[in-house]
Amino acid sequence: MFLTDKFGRRINDLRISITDRCNYRCVYCRSGTGGPQFPEMPIADYLRMARVFVGLGITKVRLTGGEPLLRRGLAEMVRELGGLRTVEGQPLDIAITTNGHLLAEMAQPLADAGLTRVTVSMDAVDAGEFARITRVPNGYERVLAGIRAAQEAGLSPVKINCVLMRGFNDDQITAFGRFAREEGVAVRFIEFMPLEEDRVWSPEIVVTLDEIVRRMAEFMPLREIDHARSETARRYVFDDGVGEIGIIAPVSHPFCGHCSRIRVTSDGKIRTCLFSVREHDLAGLMGQGASDEDMVGFIVHAVEHKEERHHIGEPGFVPASRTMVHIGG
Ligand code: 5AD
Ligand code: SF4
Repeated sequence: MFLTDKFGRRINDLRISITDRCNYRCVYCRSGTGGPQFPEMPIADYLRMARVFVGLGITKVRLTGGEPLLRRGLAEMVRELGGLRTVEGQPLDIAITTNGHLLAEMAQPLADAGLTRVTVSMDAVDAGEFARITRVPNGYERVLAGIRAAQEAGLSPVKINCVLMRGFNDDQITAFGRFAREEGVAVRFIEFMPLEEDRVWSPEIVVTLDEIVRRMAEFMPLREIDHARSETARRYVFDDGVGEIGIIAPVSHPFCGHCSRIRVTSDGKIRTCLFSVREHDLAGLMGQGASDEDMVGFIVHAVEHKEERHHIGEPGFVPASRTMVHIGG
């Protein structure tokens, strides 16, 4: 049985947030002042959910946060996920999105546990600017060491997520181009979405796909290459074939029509869209002693009500019921 929503989209990509704590305060994400901190479930409960979801056709599991490397038991969790098999009998694709602060120590244990891929958030390749965006001092060198440790542990190609904000780090575009080539990482620029706690989003602050491509050409022109339909990033190589850049453009080029994702929050609520205003309390159901079959019915029902698309930038836009740090990327 495969999860399919009422628009015919097959859902095969599960993102589980295992904590909404974070050691950074990125300007486009977390203020870190007030706001609720949601409870965390025992790792075993996320694993049970994952097993039920995988039985419904999930093939990729991404662990997110907050910052997932803050959660004890992460490597064991990856190992347990590695024991699951997809409906087709294949191993899962297991990924983590991290800010990289603790990755230098954790990359090898995570790779040994069976992690397939890692994505590191990095919004500047300059130590001072990095500190200004993450609002913690001295993170840059640690993250750089984390990226290199991940590559050495065989988690390559490491993906780098860079959220561009006009007036903050849009001066970093060409520097990231150079960085991608020198470090052998796949840099993915992400258009800023209105999901931050600071509520600073405006259309003007978004650096769009077209602008990124145009400005990167000042360093070296990009050539678009094919990407899988379900992939959110448009893919580019530099004109000379060295280095890869991705651009994730949810604002200027929405890809909701082929969204394959579903999310579970750290407190065990299903979110069918980043911009959902309503959640489905799977943890609550489990707490009432639900069987796996009950959970299947609940998940199928939730997916049937997956939102058609987001409404960023439209009049009457209703903000999501949670901000990014409490959802997971
Ligand atoms: N808009 C776009 N991307 C965001 N991320 C966090 N907040 C936002 C936002 N407001 C990205 C980060 C991280 C991933 C989980 O989500 O780059 O890598
Ligand atoms: Fe933390 Fe990631 Fe949000 Fe930055 S983007 S504050 S690292 S959860």
